Amino acid sequence: MKINKFSRIGFILAAAGSAVGLGNIWKFPYITGEYGGGAFVLVYLLAMLFIGLTIFIAEVVIGQTSEANVATSFVTMSKTKNKNWKFAGFMLFTGLIILSFYSVVLGWILNYVFISFSALPTDPEVAAATFTNLITKETNLQIFFHTIISATVIFIVLKGIKDGIEKVNLILMPLLGLILAGLLIYAITLDSFSEAVEFMFIADWSKIDENALLAALGQAFFTLSLGVGTIMTYSASLPKNANFVKSSVLVAIIDTTIAIVAGLIIFTFLFEADAKSSAGPGLVFISLPLIFSGWGILGQVIAVAFFSALVFAGITSAVSMIEPSLMFFIERFNMTRKKAVVICGSVFYSLGIVALLSMSEAYGPSLTFFGKNAFDWMDYITSSITMPIAGILISVFLGYYVDKQLLHEKFTRFVPEFIFNIWYILIRYVVPLAIIVLFLNKLGVI
Ligand code: PHE
Repeated sequence: MKINKFSRIGFILAAAGSAVGLGNIWKFPYITGEYGGGAFVLVYLLAMLFIGLTIFIAEVVIGQTSEANVATSFVTMSKTKNKNWKFAGFMLFTGLIILSFYSVVLGWILNYVFISFSALPTDPEVAAATFTNLITKETNLQIFFHTIISATVIFIVLKGIKDGIEKVNLILMPLLGLILAGLLIYAITLDSFSEAVEFMFIADWSKIDENALLAALGQAFFTLSLGVGTIMTYSASLPKNANFVKSSVLVAIIDTTIAIVAGLIIFTFLFEADAKSSAGPGLVFISLPLIFSGWGILGQVIAVAFFSALVFAGITSAVSMIEPSLMFFIERFNMTRKKAVVICGSVFYSLGIVALLSMSEAYGPSLTFFGKNAFDWMDYITSSITMPIAGILISVFLGYYVDKQLLHEKFTRFVPEFIFNIWYILIRYVVPLAIIVLFLNKLGVI
């Protein structure tokens, strides 16, 4: 199958666009806040370097070598060409499930862009109620925004890798960079900036336990878009002569920088207003709007810029979640892109409606199973089960079921041999072991 290749810069922007998302600007700051700052940041950076980047490179190698959809890639790259490896393709459906609730959250953010234009909440109770009401009562409004986001995603992926995904990233990523740079410069002028730097870089080890380690590893996975076939699928369109190690490192650096910058901006704003850093998921939806409203018209401008940046970051991630399934359907069943988009689009759109209804007062109880609502189940199944399993599978696959000579040749074409040796040890021993231990711990087995 002939696929349209990215340009090299197109690949980097698209992969960075996938990586940089709500995970960086919404989730990273709030979990850093919950786990007390500096020490967590350090653990996270180590998880990114030794585990995240290692698997990222692994996925790029698989994609760039096989130039095919995820299921086929595993088969063609395995030493024995064992057909059973196609079942590793299960991971591409994870992207569709994540996209279902990701689109709902993106819808909330889009709603906040509009709130920022009109009227931001001015007291704490209203700020909290605005958010809770949106989720528990305003079902129609949520469906409306989820529909707009879904339609945008569908519109982009209909156009394909080159004219859709690459183009959108070429526009939105620089725009995102500009907005964040502007917000960072503003944050630097505020008194609390140094407090934010201290909070993020001076380690307080008292809050670090196994939950923190788990959160750091989970975040490294999620933020680099690993274990869902996204990076493999994008890399199938990476030109063969592109240095894949360099590209991977660059994407990881962009992703980490944006998470840190987002953290610095948000904590500066919070400390400036003497607000708590440990407010959890409501940090961005409740604490920030309140602070922005206190800054008058400037606050409104900042709010619009901030929430728009989140939407841009999220859209480029969202399109990357559906692409693995599209490529699979197109290649495997000889489908047109349009047909594949209609099928996958309907799946994630409907699952998204289930997710948002499951949080409402009216439908929540009937969409709650074993104490978790459908939204939380989708999050739990993907981030705690299918993503770690995919991580183990990818590392074991490359470490034991792919010809070492082939990998050696691929690496040494671009980087010195010792880099290959380090990567090989990490992927063979360190990564699977670390994920298995943390995974079993999370499931309560050890
Ligand atoms: N990396 C994205 C983020 O940080 C999320 C994502 C996960 C994107 C899986 C694609 C695949 O928001």
